[in-house]
Amino acid sequence: MSCFDSNDAGSPLGPGIPHVSNPNIQHQLNAVNSQLSRYAVDLKTMLRREAKKTKQVIRVNQQLKAYAHDLKKSYDAEQRKNQELEQAYAETIVRLSLASRYKDEETGGHIERLSHYSKKMALCIGWGEEPACQLFAAAPMHDVGKIGIPDAILGKKGPLEEEEWEMVKQHPALGASLLMGSSSPLLKMAREVALTHHERWDGSGYPHGLKGDQIPLTGRIVMLADHYDALRSQRPYKPSFSHKKTCDLMLTGNDRTKPSHFDPQLLAAFREIHGEFDMIFSRVTEEINGLDVL
Ligand SMILES: [Fe+2]
Ligand SMILES: [Fe+2]
Repeated sequence: MSCFDSNDAGSPLGPGIPHVSNPNIQHQLNAVNSQLSRYAVDLKTMLRREAKKTKQVIRVNQQLKAYAHDLKKSYDAEQRKNQELEQAYAETIVRLSLASRYKDEETGGHIERLSHYSKKMALCIGWGEEPACQLFAAAPMHDVGKIGIPDAILGKKGPLEEEEWEMVKQHPALGASLLMGSSSPLLKMAREVALTHHERWDGSGYPHGLKGDQIPLTGRIVMLADHYDALRSQRPYKPSFSHKKTCDLMLTGNDRTKPSHFDPQLLAAFREIHGEFDMIFSRVTEEINGLDVL
């Protein structure tokens, strides 16, 4: 015979609670039932707490999103300011470079062409667009130190005396000291270029006689570009050379220019892209001459 009554719908203990005739079992059932009721209450409380927590998390998440949005806005504004500042530095560089060109025989065209050759070379050896553009902006400052060299020496028609030449050789260090101490990446690069654009791969350059990799790549690139443009341009001591003669001199050498002066990797790249150097020379020179006529 079963301990449960056949019909528990009318249990005095309430619906769903079977009524049994055995008092011990009935007692246990009652105990289990109250336990389950307590669990149910606890579960409800817990669910309510969880729901509250979820709401808080959603609110915090929304706040964080709002903060992130504000932060992004401030970051973008800061970035814009930095770009404007870098742009201002770049313009200052160009203007200072234009000032320095009045000190010697080099022209504004030289400065502009140098930027283009240097960027082209940097891209050719695998630099990204951003650093290549930075070199484009920094290269014109290479001779800014000439501001500190007396006009009588820079403008001298004949050959320089030994001590005059020693003074000219100070222009990289002078330029570097003019550009020193800035936190701008552009001015730091400009300083590096100013200091090392007369160093030579074989160690025969100045001011420090650095050799090979000791010379920053920026300086090596600008040195090659500067040399190409100097050979193409007329100077008091030489006529302007054709593109072909300039390439021959750089790739095979003469008593003044030696292939060993240049970084071999850059010289190899120059073999590939020398035609573009020629195009830059012609285009910028024509543009400058056109402006001079206006
Ligand atoms: Fe120089
Ligand atoms: Fe130059």
